[in-house]
Amino acid sequence: MQYRELSSYELTVSELCFGTMRYAAKSGIPDERSSAGTQALEEAIERGVNFIHSSYEYRTRWLTGAILRKHPKRNDLHHIIKVNVPDWEEPRFDARKFRTQVETALHELSADRIAVVQHLQRGVARADITSEAGDVHRLQQFDEVTSELGEVAEKLREEGKIGAVLSFPYTVAYARRAVEAPVYSGLVAYFNPLETEMYEFFPRLEELNKDFISIRPLAGGILTDRRVERDTLPPDDRMREEKFDDSYLRLGVVRQAIGTRPLDSWQQFAFCFSLAHPVIKSTVLGINTVEHLGTALQAENNVPLDVLEKIYRMSQGFRDGE
Ligand SMILES: NC(=O)c1ccc[n+]([C@@H]2O[C@H](COP(=O)([O-])OP(=O)(O)OC[C@H]3O[C@@H](n4cnc5c(N)ncnc54)[C@H](OP(=O)(O)O)[C@@H]3O)[C@@H](O)[C@H]2O)c1
Repeated sequence: MQYRELSSYELTVSELCFGTMRYAAKSGIPDERSSAGTQALEEAIERGVNFIHSSYEYRTRWLTGAILRKHPKRNDLHHIIKVNVPDWEEPRFDARKFRTQVETALHELSADRIAVVQHLQRGVARADITSEAGDVHRLQQFDEVTSELGEVAEKLREEGKIGAVLSFPYTVAYARRAVEAPVYSGLVAYFNPLETEMYEFFPRLEELNKDFISIRPLAGGILTDRRVERDTLPPDDRMREEKFDDSYLRLGVVRQAIGTRPLDSWQQFAFCFSLAHPVIKSTVLGINTVEHLGTALQAENNVPLDVLEKIYRMSQGFRDGE
């Protein structure tokens, strides 16, 4: 396992961050999925993964908590959690809610500290979060939200309960503001060959000594040898749903950029891509089985920066209809 140090905060994390969104039954009742997930998380920790991503929204914390409660390496692990304040349609930031979400996570994860808080300023309807109107509303509230966030984060830091706070921006317009805000030590956002929008902020983050944590390196599972050929998927595979049409069109652009297929597997290429730039400190991969973990651990970081640049440029061209 390779490790990287955050620039903004004293913390060394594994390049692979264990994503817990789909690794356990949401019912809280142990089943086959949860037993595969248990093996995957235990093996990941054994193999050196020290960074775990979770959210109360995933409803899988029950399993993470159960595994970590008595785990001998519990105190060597670092947690990154989502904290959504204000949440959907909530009118304003609420410091008590922010504190409660942090303290609940500390309890559920049997942890002394949340190393990285991934802060999401929602405050609009879910359907509006990436719209222009959503941006206008969120940016109007930005100064007030970040000022109150700064105060509560400082107190929690003094109490030893949290480390760095990074923004999950949702949009490029919001990211532009969040990168510059002193309260945020960087960004946590989607970044993979199909979602490259945040690439434009990497130089500025470096200049400011801030960090980037990438999410969903395999674009939710599309960028795998099993799913890149959409026509070969079973009729009920979720990647056949209309909402993934755009992702497969983007995949066509990536194929053009790299010349049909990567040298190794698609999953290894995508995983390495999501770690290729030095400003990226870790990538949050959804790991549901020990097999997923093996593939990620075998990956060699061999995606040159000019490939990153090329895919970004070509994807921008595609988006702008060139
Ligand atoms: N807003 C947010 O903060 C946000 C949003 C989304 C996700 N996340 C976090 O990011 C994590 C990852 O997101 P994600 O699961 O959507 O995307 P991902 O990591 O890009 O894709 C994970 C999926 O790819 C497949 N997979 C994983 N490793 C593989 C391997 N080595 N070989 C082949 N297939 C493999 C698995 O699908 P199958 O099991 O179906 O094969 C897995 O569910 C989540 O667990 C969560 O912690 C955060």
